Amino acid sequence: MKTSKAIEKRTSSRNFLKKKVAQKLINKIISAGGGAPSAKNTQPWLFVELNDEQKTACVKELIKEANKLDFQPRSFLLATAEAINQAPVLILVFATIDDEFFHNSYILSIGAAIENCLLQATELGIQSLWNCDMLAIDKSFFKKLLNIDYDLVSGISLGYNPNVMKAHIKKPISEIFINNNVNNK
Ligand SMILES: Cc1cc2nc3c(=O)[nH]c(=O)nc-3n(C[C@H](O)[C@H](O)[C@H](O)COP(=O)(O)O)c2cc1C
Repeated sequence: MKTSKAIEKRTSSRNFLKKKVAQKLINKIISAGGGAPSAKNTQPWLFVELNDEQKTACVKELIKEANKLDFQPRSFLLATAEAINQAPVLILVFATIDDEFFHNSYILSIGAAIENCLLQATELGIQSLWNCDMLAIDKSFFKKLLNIDYDLVSGISLGYNPNVMKAHIKKPISEIFINNNVNNK
């Protein structure tokens, strides 16, 4: 699949079949993440694939955090928890390097890696959900669960959607791009 096709087809999935994703496909997706550009080539990411018990523990913890919140954020978090629960695969992405000065550079690098993962998943016919609502969960929870002391940046859920999904319509280029280069029209 061409990159342009993968970009066009990728869309967030919140419904998943129970069907497992082959480990070699997951490895390919993570390798694509590792191929992303990063600030000073620091590759400041660690991808952790959870087992079923760990995934269930995360879902329960997210529901617990959601129930402490007001109606609207609570409903968002609960919807994310439901999607994570359905997806057979949950990958957590941690920042292995961070500091105040280069914080954005490291986080953007991880964002690039995650997008690579999602595009690779799309090419493989696997649906995905990039989720940050899991950031509501305290760092100490992951330390206890995974013995990992890094900060969580995002979760990636992977699996197979029961339906053929249509990507969202995005803003046209005229709305997102100002071309001041009059010599290049
Ligand atoms: C940084 C980031 C965090 C996100 N967090 C969540 C989340 O926690 N839960 C969720 O359901 N979707 C989450 N999404 C998915 C967005 O809602 C989705 O990308 C957006 O609605 C556009 O839809 P599309 O991905 O199908 O193009 C996140 C996306 C990004 C890029």
